[in-house]
Amino acid sequence: METVVLVIGANGQLGSVLTESLIQKFGKNNVIASDLNPRKEYEGIFEVIDATNIDRIQEVVTQYKVTQIYHLAAILSAKGEETPLRTWDINMQTLFNVLEVSRKNTIEKVFYPSSIAVFGEGAPLDKTPNNAYLDPATVYGISKASGENWAQYYFMRYGLDVRSIRYPGVIGYQSLPGGGTTDYAVDIYHKAVLEEKFNCFLKEDAMLPMIFMEDAIRATIELMDAPKEDIKVRTSYNIAGISFSPAEVVAEIRTLYPEFEVIYTPDFRQEIASRWPNSIDDSTACKDWGWKPEFDLKSITTTMIQKLKEKYRTTSKTSIL
Ligand SMILES: NC(=O)c1ccc[n+]([C@@H]2O[C@H](COP(=O)([O-])OP(=O)(O)OC[C@H]3O[C@@H](n4cnc5c(N)ncnc54)[C@H](O)[C@@H]3O)[C@@H](O)[C@H]2O)c1
Repeated sequence: METVVLVIGANGQLGSVLTESLIQKFGKNNVIASDLNPRKEYEGIFEVIDATNIDRIQEVVTQYKVTQIYHLAAILSAKGEETPLRTWDINMQTLFNVLEVSRKNTIEKVFYPSSIAVFGEGAPLDKTPNNAYLDPATVYGISKASGENWAQYYFMRYGLDVRSIRYPGVIGYQSLPGGGTTDYAVDIYHKAVLEEKFNCFLKEDAMLPMIFMEDAIRATIELMDAPKEDIKVRTSYNIAGISFSPAEVVAEIRTLYPEFEVIYTPDFRQEIASRWPNSIDDSTACKDWGWKPEFDLKSITTTMIQKLKEKYRTTSKTSIL
């Protein structure tokens, strides 16, 4: 059977980049991008789907004979705190709809991203292990911790092959972040390249696990490609890239922009960040499916600055930000 992939939430920070990688792997006619609104200047197949509507997901799955679903739609950590009950409803309803459509249509594989937001005060802050206690403090974290367990339930109860990664904060030049607690680590590079002052919403020593977009996408594809019997964790896998604080990124950026100015005005996101791990133990993912990150802070900084400079040279600031 030919692989046909449906990406839900394809316009987001991760979805827009993942869609391109999936097109390279499976071909343009085998990747269906979808989101709440059409994507400007997108040349592949696109369908508007509100994933809270199960009938609409079913319609597209039937129309294109979909065999894999990547379910990226969610309300993220910082944004989610504005309307907790709505966040819970959207994050859970969309997941239930994807799981139900998947089991009823014998979808071959489902990808469900989780997050380091599942960890709270009960987990060790350093080298947080895969099986640490989960007591998340945000509604987003609660929805992801529950979602992981539902993913495992559908695997155990129905044999649905759902695979999941707990992404750290994702940093990329290709797209803008969508309302998370680690968004500063993308915004800071834009400000550096624009030679503007950066106002950081975290404290300068707020150490958090991060990952470069290329590594995050590669991890996703490698997890989905791994033989089924190698996937021993059916809740979600920790993966690590690197960990750094705002002060460390600033120091790295200043090797290229010595005049780069930053002020720190921590807000409610600092409170969220203070309960998240400093670093992640990803040895289970390494052992089970060979995960290994490639980018460190230096290579992330060099690539971000170079790519953003090119982008701002060829595109107007208002169409990027
Ligand atoms: N970016 C990160 O740093 C990060 C870290 C950990 C986990 N994740 C997870 O990865 C996934 C993708 O994250 P992202 O950063 O690309 O998020 P994003 O906010 O940039 O994109 C999410 C997309 O989902 C869409 N969406 C929202 N509600 C929808 C609905 N009802 N139906 C269809 N689409 C809907 C939005 O329009 C948006 O385009 C999310 O599940 C997120 O929780 C991301």
